[in-house]
Formats: sequence, C-alpha cells, structure tokens
Amino acid sequence: MKKNILRTTLLLTLAVFFSASALAEHNKMNVEKDNKKLKKLLPMLPEYEWSYPYELPDLNYDYDALEPSVDKTTMRIHHSKHHQGYTNGTNAALKGKDYRDKPLISFFNKMDKYSDALRNSGGGFYNHSLFWTFMTPGGNELKGEIKEAINLNFGGFESFKEKFENAAKSQFGSGWAWLVITPDGKLKVTNTANQDNPMMSHAKVQGIPLLNLDVWEHAYYLNYQNKRGSYIQNFWNVVDWTEVNRRYKIARDIMK
Ligand SMILES: [Fe+2]
Repeated sequence: MKKNILRTTLLLTLAVFFSASALAEHNKMNVEKDNKKLKKLLPMLPEYEWSYPYELPDLNYDYDALEPSVDKTTMRIHHSKHHQGYTNGTNAALKGKDYRDKPLISFFNKMDKYSDALRNSGGGFYNHSLFWTFMTPGGNELKGEIKEAINLNFGGFESFKEKFENAAKSQFGSGWAWLVITPDGKLKVTNTANQDNPMMSHAKVQGIPLLNLDVWEHAYYLNYQNKRGSYIQNFWNVVDWTEVNRRYKIARDIMK
C-alpha cells in the first residue's frame, strides 16, 4: 500500500515537472519566433531613425503641465536628471564601438550580444523617450482605431485598464507596464523589470510599444510616496490617446 502511494506520488511529480518544462520550452520557442518576426518590422518604425549620439528629447509641455497627476519637481528631475543620465549612459556604452551607428532598437532585438550598460541605459533612453509622448496636459479621449482594437482584444476599456493596472502594480521593484502590439497584430499587456522593454530579445512578450508607464519610484515617490496604486490610477488623467492611436496605426499598417 505504502509502495503504491509512493509510486503514484513519484509519477505525479514527474508528470508535473515534465509538463512545466514542456510549457517553458514552448514559451521560449514562441518568444524566439516573435523576436524574428519583430526584427523584420523594425526598419519601418519611426524610432529606427534615432541614432548615435543620442540627445535628450524636449518635452511637448512644461514640467508643471501634468499637475496634479504628476508634479512639477518630479517631472523636472525625472526628465533633466534621470533621462539625461540614461542618454549619457547610452552614448558612453556606444562610444568607440564600430556598431555605434546602428539603430538602438536593433540592439534590443539581439540584446544578448551587447553589454548590460547598453541594455540598461539604452532601455532607459528609449522607454522614457516614448513615455513623455504618451502623456499630455489633461489627457484626451480614447477613440478611433485604438479604441476598437482595445474593445476587440480585451473585451472593453475597463478590462484593459484592470490588466494594465495589475501589470503596473505587480511589477516587483523597478520597471514598466506596457500595452504592445505583437508581431501577429494582437494587443497585449505586459511588464518588464528595470529598463527592459518588449523590444528586447529576452522579453516574455515581444511587441511594439503603444503605451508605457514608468513604475520606478523616481517616477512618483515625491508626490505619492509608497502609494504606487494612486499614481497608476491618476496616470489615466494624462494619457494622450491621440498619440497611442497614431502609433497603433503605424504598427498595424506595417504588419499588412
Ligand atoms: Fe523613469
């Protein structure tokens, strides 16, 4: 009797182990497949033109323009110190390298071939450069093709919003929440640690960013302290859906 129980337990453990391994292998293969598909789309994205030496992009609004959702001091330090730091770091990581003139997003697509310094600073430069453009004073209405796509892929805005907020809240430590379009044209929500992004070859979801949210403490701590959830909720007051829609249409069109 005891022997039978032991044998059954062992068989069950092995079955769980092998199905978990098979699932992990399956996911890895899907990431590699999507990464290859993404590579073909990169030259058609506007950011493919961004090149070395990188410069801190200007904001389309003043530092106090997103208040009260994002306070002036946070915006000033975040843009002029943190983003400037990632910009300098990207240039330093590429200085003297024979590949320095390649587009930044092409490094992301083969991230394992490049340095951690380029991964961290280059990711920081890219992620923040997009982030500023996804916000506008007072926000604006979700409409047009992106609204239809969100309804189709998530079953409605509320369901998408919940998924995005959960991705932002559940990112342990520093990182980002993302809405992406996969190389197969599906919208997905994901999150990444540190300054990684879904364009990077090791990201669990491969896709073109359509919207992102910085959940590093430097993005909210002065105003919100430990209340990351409040910062995330107030983000919806400043989202520039016109810009998200514009990027969605570009990405969708290059997949046709
Ligand atoms: Fe940041």
